[in-house]
This record gives sequence, C-alpha cells and structure tokens, in this order.
Amino acid sequence: MRRKLIAGNWKMNKNFSETRDLLLKIKNGLNTDILNKIDVLVCPSFVNLTIANDTLIDSSINLGGQNIYQEDEGAYTGEISAKMLKSVGCKYVILGHSERRQYFSESNETVNLKVKKALENSLTPIVCVGETLIQREKEMHFKTIEEQVSKCLKGFSAEEILKIVIAYEPVWAIGTGKTASPEQANEMHIFIRNVIGNLFTKDIAGKIIILYGGSMNDKNSKELLHMSDIDGGLIGGASLKSESFINIINSAL
Ligand code: PGA
Repeated sequence: MRRKLIAGNWKMNKNFSETRDLLLKIKNGLNTDILNKIDVLVCPSFVNLTIANDTLIDSSINLGGQNIYQEDEGAYTGEISAKMLKSVGCKYVILGHSERRQYFSESNETVNLKVKKALENSLTPIVCVGETLIQREKEMHFKTIEEQVSKCLKGFSAEEILKIVIAYEPVWAIGTGKTASPEQANEMHIFIRNVIGNLFTKDIAGKIIILYGGSMNDKNSKELLHMSDIDGGLIGGASLKSESFINIINSAL
C-alpha cells in the first residue's frame, strides 16, 4: 500500500514572517490524526528554511528544499548543497522542476547528478518530469516522459530507486489553471510505472510514489488523488493559502 504524499512547492514566494505565519496556520489547521495517515511536506525558499524548521519543530509536517547543486561544497557562488539542506531539517528536495529546466537550463543529466547527491545525503529526491503542450500536441508526450524518467534515474540500484519520489507535472498545466484530467494524469502515471518496471522490476514499480502536479487545487484534488496510480500531489499556487492546502490534504484520505 503506497502512502499518500501532499507536497507544497512555494517557489519564490513568502518572506520570513509570511513563512512563519502560513506554517502556523497549516500546522494549527490540520487534524493531527491526518498526519498519521498522510505525509505532508512544505518546500519554502532556502532563506526561510530555518524559520520553517523552528516553526514545525513540534509537528510531523516535513520540510524540503526546491533545488540543490550537485557538488558537496566549494567555489559555487550562489549555490546550496544537499548537506546544507540536511543541516536545517530538510528531508526532501524537489529536483528537475520544469521551471529549473526552462529558466536555468537543467538537463536530465544534471538532474541525475543531483539525485545522486540527494541520496548520498539521505534526502528524498522528488524528481519532476513533464511534457510541454507542443510535445503533447505532437503526440510525443510518452516518448518525452520515458526519456526524462530513464535519464534522470540512470545508474541507480533497486534499493536507491525505492527512496525516490517521481512527480508528473505536465508543463502546460503548471500555473495555468489547466489541469490534466484525472484520466489523462492517471494514464501517464501508469505509463511511468511501466517504464520503471522495465528499468527495474514490477515490484519496485508498484512501490514507487508518483505525485501529480499542475494546477491542483481544492476543487479538483479529490478526484485526482483517488485515481489508481496517483499517490499524491505537488502543489504550487494552492499551497500558498492555508485553507486550500489543508483542504487538499484532507481530500487525500
Ligand atoms: P501549480 O504548480 O500548482 O501552481 O500549477 C505546481 C508546481 O509547479 O509544482
């Protein structure tokens, strides 16, 4: 039985006090029982991870970063290492988000190196994959996703793969208000599971957590989160308001 994971990707939003206020609202608004059944994760900006960790000290809400650099330390001005994220209480890290691929030229090969670094430092990588609208219209979406999954996961052992979370985020659905239909999303999740089954084993494919992301909100979450192969959500815009994020978490049960 795969445990559901609901993750908030705050992107470049919320300053110091806003981070604390939003986390207090989320923490106080969640029924403690739900945190025994569902994994909840928030990924604020790097500079606010310490206040986030302090605010969540008595909570089982998990903390994650939105990126890392693929080296341990050194002369990489402006970059953040996996060890640094660990040291401020992070358990997860989002890697290969389409915004990183689009604006910061991240390739599947770079994502692969980052996944390796995350695993070496006991961070759970959330590896994002997704096709653009043009790729979908040209019916290249399955091929694109297969390539992203196999290149990002290249060279890992079966044991390592089980520590990785995948997020399917069609680029045309991110921040656009256009969600993939539950059937469209589930079809791709089944496809990703088959790709992993071919690369590793069917047993591993059946255990891996695959999140959906792209305009998920508290109106559409219940249907998406109850599809056979959707194990949770990576939520951008709707994770920035306590009410909608809490509603999404509650809808996952
Ligand atoms: P969105 O973003 O929910 O605002 O579409 C999702 C994401 O980019 O992770």
